[in-house]
Amino acid sequence: MSSILDNRPALEREVNKVAEVAGYLWQKGWAERNGGNITVNITEYVDDAIRAMPAIAPAAPIGATLPNLKGCYFFCKGTNKRMRDLARWPMENGSVIRITDDCAHYEIIADNPVRPTSELPSHLAVHDYLIGKGSNYKASLHTHPIELVAMSHCKKFLEKDVATRLLWSMIPETKAFCPRGLGIIPYQLPGSNELAQSTIRELGDYDVTLWEKHGVFAIEEDIMQAFDQVDVLNKSALIYIAAKNMGFEPDGMSDEQMREMTIAFNLPK
Ligand code: 13P
Ligand code: ZN
Repeated sequence: MSSILDNRPALEREVNKVAEVAGYLWQKGWAERNGGNITVNITEYVDDAIRAMPAIAPAAPIGATLPNLKGCYFFCKGTNKRMRDLARWPMENGSVIRITDDCAHYEIIADNPVRPTSELPSHLAVHDYLIGKGSNYKASLHTHPIELVAMSHCKKFLEKDVATRLLWSMIPETKAFCPRGLGIIPYQLPGSNELAQSTIRELGDYDVTLWEKHGVFAIEEDIMQAFDQVDVLNKSALIYIAAKNMGFEPDGMSDEQMREMTIAFNLPK
């Protein structure tokens, strides 16, 4: 069977990165059953032949009108599809969609009529927001990292920047590689427009947001870097939990050590 990836090595590379990350999510235990989703804005790889491709399923509503997405194309994990399957067969467990000219619907154009993730409202609203502010971020990732989700069950960690400061203080690299920290989003119904709107609000200040009692939502230039940010934060959560399991509250890096790091690596305050 022919594929949209045939003779398009740059596009194939992006989809292969999605497949690689999907495998990591499964290996980490963050992707039970169909848990989590990925979308990547692939518009820069679209040529005239792709633009001429017909829809292979009827257009479906996004649930919102997103004017910045006019003419955009996305690779999306399919709803109810497993990350461990996406890892091996990306084009059977995900699809390429095109936003229609009214900016309120999408149509699937390749390779198979796999319906996109139920979190499409959040993903597309975020891509619309990113384009609107001229960002070079192209990838968004939602996943269920065990330790970060566990932390979101504790009120103390849901206060602004409490979790961020704790996670930064576990190991110097966390602030270096996740300098904008972790934004907190109070519980909202999965797949809802309300969740999408709260996510956008927090992404103004953070690259990774924690959806209370659900998961994280991260954005970055590509999907590998979005994964890295979540991985770095969850590593800090694991260190915190390991210390607690040894029977003590970890000291964390001191304010002075954090300040020294921030200056040495020219990080935002
Ligand atoms: P999908 O299978 O629709 O992508 O949903 C998974 C999920 O994690 C919802 O929050
Ligand atoms: Zn989820």
